Amino acid sequence: MRRKLFGAIFAICIGWFQAEALTDASIKTEPEEVLNKTSATLSCNLTNPSSPIKGHYWTRNDKMIEKSVSSSDDTYAEYHIEKIDYHHAGVYACVFRSEPQVNATIEVKAFPHVAAYKHSESANEKDKAVLTCVSHGYPLPTDWTWHKLSDINIIQENIANGTGDKYEIKTTPNKTMLYINDLDINSDMDTYECRGTSEMGTARDEIQLRVRSQLAALWPFLGIVAEVIILVVIIFVYEKRRKPDEITDELTCRCFLQEEQCRYQPQRQKRPAKKLQLRKGEKVS
Ligand SMILES: *[C@@H]1O[C@H](CO)[C@@H](O)[C@H](O)[C@H]1NC(C)=O
Ligand SMILES: *[C@@H]1O[C@H](CO)[C@@H](O)[C@H](O)[C@H]1NC(C)=O
Ligand SMILES: *[C@@H]1O[C@H](CO)[C@@H](O)[C@H](O)[C@H]1NC(C)=O
Ligand SMILES: *[C@@H]1O[C@H](CO)[C@@H](O)[C@H](O)[C@H]1NC(C)=O
Ligand SMILES: *[C@@H]1O[C@H](CO)[C@@H](O)[C@H](O)[C@H]1NC(C)=O
Repeated sequence: MRRKLFGAIFAICIGWFQAEALTDASIKTEPEEVLNKTSATLSCNLTNPSSPIKGHYWTRNDKMIEKSVSSSDDTYAEYHIEKIDYHHAGVYACVFRSEPQVNATIEVKAFPHVAAYKHSESANEKDKAVLTCVSHGYPLPTDWTWHKLSDINIIQENIANGTGDKYEIKTTPNKTMLYINDLDINSDMDTYECRGTSEMGTARDEIQLRVRSQLAALWPFLGIVAEVIILVVIIFVYEKRRKPDEITDELTCRCFLQEEQCRYQPQRQKRPAKKLQLRKGEKVS
């Protein structure tokens, strides 16, 4: 038993020394991480490089920072962040261009940023509303909650997948969506708050939800119907008023001389055309 234990410890030590020998280059970062600062200077001090240094650069979230690229053979690299907010927080790394390349990371953490996708949403009664909040920066919230401002209780995520569930919450680290089903004009019209909490603190935003009555949704349609009805009535009345002028004893006729017959058609009358046999100069009474 004891021999086995010593053997294991010995093996681990050998392994460790071998690893040390292979990666003798090491980077000391200063500071080790940046928390809650408004500005910071990051630095890396490389010792025992395995080959000459051809330059260095910094990355943020694995993207190279163009202005940090240097071709100096220094074993020391520095990067200054003027203003730390959610745009500038992230995982920074200094990279020394040697053979092989070596790098070290410094986490720059900022207060979370949470914003409603839209500050005001509207939906129809009985329909479904979707409220969305997003987060940027580093670290992203690990906890999201939703509240109704008129109600102190947290809206719980419905685990059950049954129909008729009032709320449903879908969450990823950078986004949370609250689904409110079967909207009620009285109880659901409210201001909702989303809260995102990371190790750096809690940020929040608000969304106002308006619920339109179903009748309100019908108004535009009813408007068009009413318009059509009014138009039809106007045309009808107008036609009715014109008719008496035309029903007189005298008829205005138009004649077409066709094979010595005159076809006349009383205008604006529904009577069928009459055929008359006329001679030249003959008059019709
Ligand atoms: C880098 O580290 C070495 C050894 O730890 C030290 O002697 C040197 O002063 C450091 N350089 C800078 C610029 O801090
Ligand atoms: C840093 O080094 C690791 C291996 O040690 C490598 O996987 C990673 O891609 C390197 N990062 C950068 C930014 O070069
Ligand atoms: C809930 O329903 C959705 C789609 O209807 C499905 O994708 C999901 O897996 C279900 N979840 C559970 C816990 O049953
Ligand atoms: C949220 O994160 C995913 C992957 O984690 C990414 O693809 C997406 O672009 C991110 N969205 C926003 C709004 O940052
Ligand atoms: C960050 O600083 C603010 C005030 O500047 C403070 O209220 C908060 O507690 C700090 N958070 C951490 C994680 O240090």
